[in-house]
Amino acid sequence: MKVVILWSSPNTDGLTASAKEQLKKGLISKDCEVEEIHLNRCKIEHCRACGNGWGTCNKNGTCVIKDDFSEIYDKLVKADGIVFVTAVYWSDMTECFKAFFDRMRRCDASYNHFLRDKRCVLVACAGGTGRGTLECLSHLEMGLTHMGMRAYDRIPVVRYNKDYMLPALEAAGSTYAERLENGFDMYY
Ligand SMILES: Cc1cc2nc3c(=O)[nH]c(=O)nc-3n(C[C@H](O)[C@H](O)[C@H](O)COP(=O)(O)O)c2cc1C
Repeated sequence: MKVVILWSSPNTDGLTASAKEQLKKGLISKDCEVEEIHLNRCKIEHCRACGNGWGTCNKNGTCVIKDDFSEIYDKLVKADGIVFVTAVYWSDMTECFKAFFDRMRRCDASYNHFLRDKRCVLVACAGGTGRGTLECLSHLEMGLTHMGMRAYDRIPVVRYNKDYMLPALEAAGSTYAERLENGFDMYY
């Protein structure tokens, strides 16, 4: 199974990166082919809301901005599984993550529907008080809903639970891989 891990934090050795690594370990343990995409290193502009709000995304499912967006979107479309991992900023996903997510939602929800029915794992990593972790997961899931995608799991990682959540993330990765292979035990 091919799984893309899309993740965002400026730190390559922080909480978010550790969470991503653990999930990856679990996926690899079940022979998944994993590609990770570090959004902070990609060139992703924010949506310009061209064409009075509804741009080419609504007319033909493409974005007018020439940057790394289309290539990443295409990888997600071709993947069997998708894992979204973001640091929590202001009770939300990071700005890098949001820039990508907004444009993906526009292309997919309003025209393409390529991502419909894909089941994903959502992980939010909060290194501060931990406040806003659930809101972040909720915002991610709301975006998925617009595209007809489904969250198979939503995982909050905070400073105070990392000692037991990081090992759990490896288990989450291996369970997700099994579900991708054998089918999901969920009906919505
Ligand atoms: C702009 C900004 C906003 C943040 N907002 C929150 C927040 O709402 N809740 C929280 O617990 N931590 C917050 N943090 C802390 C980040 O969640 C923390 O830096 C992040 O988990 C670190 O992950 P990392 O180790 O991968 O960088 C914020 C950090 C920044 C830079």
